Amino acid sequence: MASSAELRLITNKMAAAVTRCTRDLRYAWANERYAEWLHRPVQKIIGNKIQDVLGNEAFLRLLPYFERALSGQAVEYEDNVRFSSIGERWISAIYTPTLDLQGEVDGWVAVIRDITKQKLTEASLLKREKQLAEEAQALAKLNKCSLRLWQTNRLQEGLGEMLRAVIELLGADKGNVQILNPERNVLTIACQQGFEQDFLDYFREVSAMDDSACGRALRKCEQVVIEDVEHDSGFTPHRQVVRAEGFRAVVSTPLLGRDGKVLGLLSTHFRSTHRPTDQELRRLELYVRQAADFIERCKQEEELRLSKGRYRKLSQRLDAKIRARTAELEEKTAELSQKATLLDLANDAILVRDEGGKISYWNEGAERLYGWTRAEVLGRSTSEFLDTEFSVLLTEILESDRWEGELHQYRRDGSQIIVASRWTTLRDKDGKAFAWLEINTDITARKRAEEAARKLSARILTLQDGERRRIAKGLHDSLGQYLAALKMNLDGFPCSNPKQSAVVSDCSEIAKKCLMETRTLSHLLHPPLLDEAGFDTAARWYVEGFARRSGIAVNFHLPQEFMRLHPDVEIALFRALQECLTNIHKHAGGSSVDIRMTQDAKQVRLEIADNGKGIPKDRLHHLLGGTAAAGVGIAGMRERFHELGGSLEIRSNRKGTTIIVTAPLPHGSVTLGAKLSVHAARGLKAYRLRACNGRLETQ
Ligand SMILES: Nc1ncnc2c1ncn2[C@@H]1O[C@H](COP(=O)(O)OP(=O)(O)O)[C@@H](O)[C@H]1O
Ligand SMILES: [Mg+2]
Repeated sequence: MASSAELRLITNKMAAAVTRCTRDLRYAWANERYAEWLHRPVQKIIGNKIQDVLGNEAFLRLLPYFERALSGQAVEYEDNVRFSSIGERWISAIYTPTLDLQGEVDGWVAVIRDITKQKLTEASLLKREKQLAEEAQALAKLNKCSLRLWQTNRLQEGLGEMLRAVIELLGADKGNVQILNPERNVLTIACQQGFEQDFLDYFREVSAMDDSACGRALRKCEQVVIEDVEHDSGFTPHRQVVRAEGFRAVVSTPLLGRDGKVLGLLSTHFRSTHRPTDQELRRLELYVRQAADFIERCKQEEELRLSKGRYRKLSQRLDAKIRARTAELEEKTAELSQKATLLDLANDAILVRDEGGKISYWNEGAERLYGWTRAEVLGRSTSEFLDTEFSVLLTEILESDRWEGELHQYRRDGSQIIVASRWTTLRDKDGKAFAWLEINTDITARKRAEEAARKLSARILTLQDGERRRIAKGLHDSLGQYLAALKMNLDGFPCSNPKQSAVVSDCSEIAKKCLMETRTLSHLLHPPLLDEAGFDTAARWYVEGFARRSGIAVNFHLPQEFMRLHPDVEIALFRALQECLTNIHKHAGGSSVDIRMTQDAKQVRLEIADNGKGIPKDRLHHLLGGTAAAGVGIAGMRERFHELGGSLEIRSNRKGTTIIVTAPLPHGSVTLGAKLSVHAARGLKAYRLRACNGRLETQ
């Protein structure tokens, strides 16, 4: 066992306060550290009562530990004790009981450490930890709120969520979210919680000019906190509404877009005066940033939706258009196929040829007419099948929009046909020709019939001529001779009295008239001069008579040397002259006629021109087109000259009409009609001979 002096020596070196107390609750000794700690000199401790040194409060607090030590237990504790000299302290103490020589507990040694500093640090750490935990909790909540917001897709729903979160965050009583109308720069309430209708009506629209919390926040683009609206001059004009609504404090936070522009405002209202903590405001700021992002996202999505909607509408409209167009096309196709069926029903051959002459359409009529099937001809050239003989250049047809004319073509079986062909140019919408529609009507039979009719009519005319000639001859040679004999007898009739002689003379006069009439009639039917003296003489005789009878001036030009012609030619020319002059008298209404006769080695040409009013247009059209009934007037003449291998030409306008007829001469190089060739071969010589004899007979 160490002595007290030794113990003091050791313990004085220790950082801890050490003391020894006795059973009577007094200090037996104490080290310097203990005395320093208690702010007392060691002398004032040793031998003194614990109660006096520590003070009553501390003594009572520690007494239980003393008693435990005195009961022989080692005591170890930490406690907060209020000492009279040094005030409240945290101490950590170990009491070790001490025994006397009899082995009885006579006191204890206490080692005490002041752990106040440590305890305070611990407490502040704890507090900080608690704060952190709270903050973490709040942030977690905030995060949850944000998450909820992000999971929301609809703006309205999100605004509600936002409002709930902020009210909760700040512990507010009510609140609203306003959205800015950028065009008018006013805020309108988009979502609210806890407000009366009157308030909502009053603050329906708020502008930056307004001095309410939201007006100010909009103007400054920053958070506005009004702890007490009753003491805020800006609220003076709204005081009544605000009082009725019953709030005192308000926090308005702008929701800023990424470009820094105000999207809207989030305001929370408190029933009593209030100022949120900085922490709350910080959290609010955090949340509001997310809320702004949300609004921006919603707006973008809305825009996207709208544009999608627009696209959808557009595509729907497009779809509808396409459907309508398709329907229209189907209808058109149906119509076309119907038309095509109709085209097939048509008797005409209908075909479409493209620029290169390739066939792109070929109706059943064409199949029937040409004998080639659609499958055989489609995509191939018309020239491969039809061997068309064009009356005009093909390029000329292709250049005009419409063309009509006659074409000679061949069938599959090699037979030739004549078609009345009508061509129409098909143009695209730019006006460019891309194909030609050709409608061909088989007129072969008609043409043949016409040809036959022409031949027949020429034959009839010839027969008529013969008949006229015979009648004329009969009248002249038979009736004329009898009448001449009758007149002669009457002239030589012996009369016994003047009365008788007067009657006979009268009869002779009548016989003379009959003779003259018969002669005229016979000459008109067939001028004997024509056979006897030839066309020029007969024509001159006829023209003179015509001029006299009609009063129309006639200029007649004949070549000096006029050869006799074939009687068929002479009679044709004479009949033409007769017909033309009759027409002029009947229709022209002119005052003069020019007749010009020319003859060369190849042909004879007779031109009769009047200065009358001309042939009416429609008549002329018929006459030129040869559609007038054959055998009548001009048409008959044409047939006659056609038969002779010649021609008839009509020129007519309002100043007059000119008819030109030509007939080839047998020795000419031009081809003659078959009939004339035969005549020429075997008849012309004889005819010339007979002409020399002065008397002519028809062949
Ligand atoms: N020289 C002319 N001047 C005016 N019109 C004429 C002339 N010659 C013929 N025509 C017209 O042409 C038509 C056909 O003549 P034509 O064939 O001789 O028949 P027709 O004399 O029997 O009427 C006439 O009806 C008349 O209208
Ligand atoms: Mg006539």
